[in-house]
Parts: sequence; structure tokens; C-alpha cells
Amino acid sequence: VNHLDLEERARAALEAGAYDYFAGGADDELTLADNVAAWSRLRLRPHVMRDVTVVSPATTVLGTDVSMPLLIAPTAFQRLAHDAGECATARAATRAGTVMVVSTFATRSLEDIAAAAPDHPLWFQLYVHTNRGWTENLVKRAADAGYRAIVLTVDVPVLGFRQRSESRSFTLPEGIAAANLTAAALPSVQKEGTRADGGEDAAGQFDPGLIPTDVEWLRAVADLPVVVKGILRGDDARLAVEAGADAVVVSNHGGRQLDTAITGVDALPEVVAAVGTDAEVYVDGGVRRGTDVVKALALGARAVLVGRPIVWGLACDGEQGVVDVLEALRAETARAMALCGAPTVAEITRDLVVA
Ligand SMILES: Cc1cc2nc3c(=O)[nH]c(=O)nc-3n(C[C@H](O)[C@H](O)[C@H](O)COP(=O)(O)O)c2cc1C
Repeated sequence: VNHLDLEERARAALEAGAYDYFAGGADDELTLADNVAAWSRLRLRPHVMRDVTVVSPATTVLGTDVSMPLLIAPTAFQRLAHDAGECATARAATRAGTVMVVSTFATRSLEDIAAAAPDHPLWFQLYVHTNRGWTENLVKRAADAGYRAIVLTVDVPVLGFRQRSESRSFTLPEGIAAANLTAAALPSVQKEGTRADGGEDAAGQFDPGLIPTDVEWLRAVADLPVVVKGILRGDDARLAVEAGADAVVVSNHGGRQLDTAITGVDALPEVVAAVGTDAEVYVDGGVRRGTDVVKALALGARAVLVGRPIVWGLACDGEQGVVDVLEALRAETARAMALCGAPTVAEITRDLVVA
């Protein structure tokens, strides 16, 4: 599966407004483009004459075994891509042996998604609502349904300006809505014809006042590890870890929030240096190739997250489409590791990337 071909196929399969919702970024989409370009600027320094008879990209994230250092990023409104939506993605994650992060804006109930992937690691991505009681309820529901970590997204104090969706006035089709947000808490999201971006913003009801002590609060709400997603600086990463984060995701939200923000890969070394061994560090944005995964690990990430390619796989062929994307990325990662002379993830060292 070539990711560019796949995106074209998905584009043909999707309604134009849905494609633009998934594909688009903020403002002039400079960060969106930079996310892919930043990986391709990096050059590898492969070892040769290392025994790569047996290569395994398997690793662990927060103590959970995964078949590769690549997780499914939370993306909203997956039923815009395929009727089975997040349930199909969860089944694909199970088959490929990796973690899926389920968005607060999932279009299937978090219990149904968990039932689609019994005994399989799912993490729940959280936007904190100004109504903390409501948020606590949502987190407890996720814990009861068996989700194994909470991924707290911190880079949406306000919604970025998504030109493509704005100019189309894209609205959610009838029957597709954020299934886990009750009308009482978020009436604006549940109205028919809500703009998808308007849904994500939830009319400003998500708390723009989020601060590091909220990580401590979240840790107390449920006995689950907390991953803080959307960090681009070492000092912020340090604050998150000191507040109790078990992991951070270095991310600019797929170029959808602050345009001209630094890319995840460019911010990664600073965050890794600041966090040290106190927490796991993941990175996302523009990861499209196995070589990108190897570069991320060489720069100190434990794993990467992938967003849009998963959606394209879902749009093209549902569950099987997502499996195909994941298996292709795993095969590419294993091949890149072999060609770098690094048969295990522990052997992917800093010197493999040109400084
Ligand atoms: C259509 C779409 C919806 C997204 N929805 C969410 C979300 O609900 N919560 C969140 O934390 N991140 C969300 N993200 C950001 C992704 O989790 C991730 O950071 C980003 O997509 C990674 O970049 P990539 O798409 O280039 O792989 C979304 C991204 C896209 C493209």
C-alpha cells in the first residue's frame, strides 16, 4: 500500500466535504505540509554486517506488548469514513497487534468499541469539558469499559481555523454524531447538521483553562496511566511529567491547530532530553513510512502514532483497509530496521540519524 495512492483512493471513495475534513489543516496548511517533509529531510546512517536474520519491531507501550512501535492516533468522526467507524478500526488494531486511541469524538459508543476488541488494549483520548463532573463520568465509563490509559489532549484550548471545512460549510450528515457526548452536556454537538469542526470545538465548551494540576486531577479520577498529547517543548513536557504524566505525545495535532508550529520530529530531541527516563515519549504528525518510524525511535521516541493513513484505509476498505495499512507499515519498519542493521528496537540508536 503506497500511502499516496491510498489517499487518492480514499478521496475518490469519500464525499468531498468528508475528505477535506480528514485531510485538512489549519490556516495555510504550512505545518500540515511540513509534518511529512520534516521526516524526509532526515538522513539515515545505516550499519552493515550486523546479523539481521531475525528482525522484530515488537516493543511495549506503558507495559503493553505491541507488534510494532506504531499506534493508531485518535481521529474524530470515523463513521464519516466507513459505517462501522471506530468498531472496524478497533478490530483492525486487534488483528495487527497494536493499540488504538479512541477519540472523545468517536461516532460509536466507547462500550461498543471495547466490545469490538475484547481483551485488547484501547486507550481513551480525552478533551476536558468545563463541566468536570461530566468529564469524570466519561473517564469512569472508559475505565469501566476496560480502556487502559487516558490520553489527555492539551493542544486545543481553542479550535484551529480549518479553512477547507469553513469554505465548504461542511456539516455532519444525518445519523452521524459524537456518540459519547450526551446532549445534556454538549447540546451543540448533538444538533443535526453540526459542522464537524464545530463539533470538535463543541462551541468552546472544552476547557481553555487547562493547567498542569489538571493532570494530577485526572490521575485521581481513574486509576489509569495518563498520556499528555500535544506537547512541542521540553519545558512543557517536564511540567506534564512532574504533574504525573506517564507518557507524552510530541504532536502539533496533525497540522490542524497552530499553523507554522514546529513539527513533532523537530521538537522530539528537546522533549526527549527534558523527560529523560521519567516517562515514555511518543511522536506523531506525517509518519508515512517505516523509515520515519526508525528515525523517530533513533531520536528517542518509544513509538509513533499515525492518523490520516488509518482513516484512508478505513475509507477504502473498512476493517481490512486499516489492517492493510498497519501491516504495510510494520513490514516497512522491519525492512528499514534490517537495512539499518538494527534487528530489535533496542538497537535503533541515535547515531543512525545524521545529527
Ligand atoms: C480528521 C482528524 C481528526 C482528529 N481528531 C482528533 C481528536 O479527536 N483528538 C485528538 O487528540 N487528536 C485528533 N487528531 C490529531 C491526531 O490524533 C494526530 O495527532 C494527527 O492526525 C497525526 O498526524 P497524521 O494525521 O499526519 O498522522 C485528529 C486528526 C485528524 C486528521
